[in-house]
Amino acid sequence: MTLRIAPSIIAADLGHLARDVAAVERGGADLIHVDVMDGRFVPNVSIGVPVIEAIHAVTSVPLDVHLMVLEPERHLLAFHAAGASMISVHVEVSPHLHRTLGTIKDLGIKAGAVLNPGTSVSAVESVAHLLDYVVVMSVNPGSSSQPFIPESTGKVSAVRSLLDRLGNPAPIEIDGGVSPANAADLVAAGAEILVAASAIFKSGDPESATRTLHDAAVASVESR
Ligand code: DX5
Ligand code: ZN
Repeated sequence: MTLRIAPSIIAADLGHLARDVAAVERGGADLIHVDVMDGRFVPNVSIGVPVIEAIHAVTSVPLDVHLMVLEPERHLLAFHAAGASMISVHVEVSPHLHRTLGTIKDLGIKAGAVLNPGTSVSAVESVAHLLDYVVVMSVNPGSSSQPFIPESTGKVSAVRSLLDRLGNPAPIEIDGGVSPANAADLVAAGAEILVAASAIFKSGDPESATRTLHDAAVASVESR
């Protein structure tokens, strides 16, 4: 297992984005998670292609783009061109999920499927062989600083079991309400990529908060 910490810049100071990205990079961020919201699939509108280009220009940390948009397949080329190394799409808005994942992979980047809290694990079963990662939402997507939904830990285990049964070692990413308080349990359940926005960027010290989250997660691995 390879643990990775993915600070989500949704909670960064967008007026000082390069500064905040540099801080989490110093703190050991493995990925930069970018939450793209369209005001339709989720209530809020967040950021898009130009901001991703700007982040890509100031960091070599791979960009993990989480598309919370309707018709995500219409935007894959643009996000790839902007610098995404990974793109995830929600199964709830992807009637042609098989084709969409194939399109992302054909771009030469990692393809992920995202499950909302109300979506069953079985929704990814028939495309499991195409998945480079699975994102388990542990809040209803749309904004940061929401409380972690406790049932999500069991869901991580269920996705891990499904992927193991189908012979796919793809990592599970957990997104929403992640903090040093629940990181160890999530890693023990099978999560390998921990996304965190408020726990890192609302801490007052994003650099050390990134390290703290990593250390909390690693403690779980070492205690096994
Ligand atoms: C949910 C987004 C998340 C979220 C994380 O809408 O996909 O990435 O903003 O925020 P925290 O870590 O504050 O729950
Ligand atoms: Zn996200």
